[in-house]
Amino acid sequence: MVNKFAYGTFPSTRQRRNRMTDWSRRMVAETRLTSHDLILPVFVIDGKNERTPIPSMPGVERQSVDILVETAKHAEKLGIPALALFPYIDASLKTKDAREAYNPDNVVCRAVKAIKDACPNLGVITDVALDPFNADGQDGIVVDGQILNDETTEALVRQALVQAQAGCDVVAPSDMMDGRIGAIRKILEEANLKNVQIMAYSAKYASAFYGPFRDAIGSASALGKADKKTYQLDPANSDEAMREVAYDLDEGADSVIVKPGLPYLDVLYRVKQEFGVPVFAYQVSGEYAMMRAAGQNGWLDYIGCAIETLSCFKRAGASGVLTYSAIEVAEALEG
Ligand code: PBG
Repeated sequence: MVNKFAYGTFPSTRQRRNRMTDWSRRMVAETRLTSHDLILPVFVIDGKNERTPIPSMPGVERQSVDILVETAKHAEKLGIPALALFPYIDASLKTKDAREAYNPDNVVCRAVKAIKDACPNLGVITDVALDPFNADGQDGIVVDGQILNDETTEALVRQALVQAQAGCDVVAPSDMMDGRIGAIRKILEEANLKNVQIMAYSAKYASAFYGPFRDAIGSASALGKADKKTYQLDPANSDEAMREVAYDLDEGADSVIVKPGLPYLDVLYRVKQEFGVPVFAYQVSGEYAMMRAAGQNGWLDYIGCAIETLSCFKRAGASGVLTYSAIEVAEALEG
C-alpha cells in the first residue's frame, strides 16, 4: 500500500531501527548526562551538627559547616565537580549596608576554608550578592526605595575579595548590578588572585520560581512584597540577555549562567550558539519544588523528571547545571 504521508525512501529508512535496543540508543545518543555535569547548591548556617529542613524544598536542608564538609566529600566521591555555597544569616547580623557580606570571618568564608581543607580537588563556588545579609532582602543597597548600583558594586567587590582570600575557586555574582564583573575582575587581579574564576549570572531573570530559595536563605520576610525587577531581567526578553552576556564576557567573566532553567532553554541555546563559551543553567528552587512535590504526591516520577530535564539542558548546550537534585541524580546515574 502506498503511504501518502511518506517522504523520500520510506520504509527503507526506518527511524525506529536505531531506537530498538538499549545498546543502540546508547550508541547514537547525542548527549550524555553524567555526574560531571552537576553542580550542587548548598545552604550553610552557623552552628555545629545542625541540619534544618526547608519546608518548601523537601529533601534539602541548611547545614552547619561540619555537616557540609561531609556532604562535600560525598559529592566529590560521586564525581560532582563543584558546590555552590549560599548562606543563611541570622536576622541579628542583617543590616541596611549588608556589611556582614564582607566580614572575612563570616559563615561563607569559614565554610570555604573547611571544604577546601577537606576536599582540595572539589570546586567551591561562592555567591556574590547582598541579599542574605541585607536587612532589605534585596541583592543591592537600598536608599529611599532605590537599589543603588555603584554603592552596591563597591560592597560586592569587597565581598568577592574576602571569598577569594578565603580560598574559593569561583566567585559567582548573582546580583545583576551593572559593571560588577569588571570591578570584581580588577580587584582579583590587583590582589594577585588572578586564577579565581568568575561565573557570571548574566541572564538572570526576575522570576517567581525563586520563592523557595528565599525561604532557604531567610530573605523572604525581609523582602516582603518587593520585587527585583529593576535589576533582574524581564522574562519577555532574550536580546537583552545576549547584551548582558556580551558585557560580562567583555568585563572578564570566564563562564555565564542562565537562570532559571527549563523555561529559559531558548536563552541558553542562544548564548551557546552566539558566544560559544561555557554556559551553565540553574535549575532553581521552584523548579526543584515542583518536581519534588509532584513526586511526593505520586503524580510524577521525581528522579525520572530530574534526569530528563537535566539531559535537556545538555542538549540545549549547557556545560553543566546547578541543581538541588545533583546528589540524588549522580547516585541514580551510578545505578
Ligand atoms: C539572589 C539569588 C537568587 C537565587 C540565588 N541567588 C534569586 C533571588 O532571590 O532573586 C535563586 C536560586 C533558586 O531559586 O534556587 N542573589
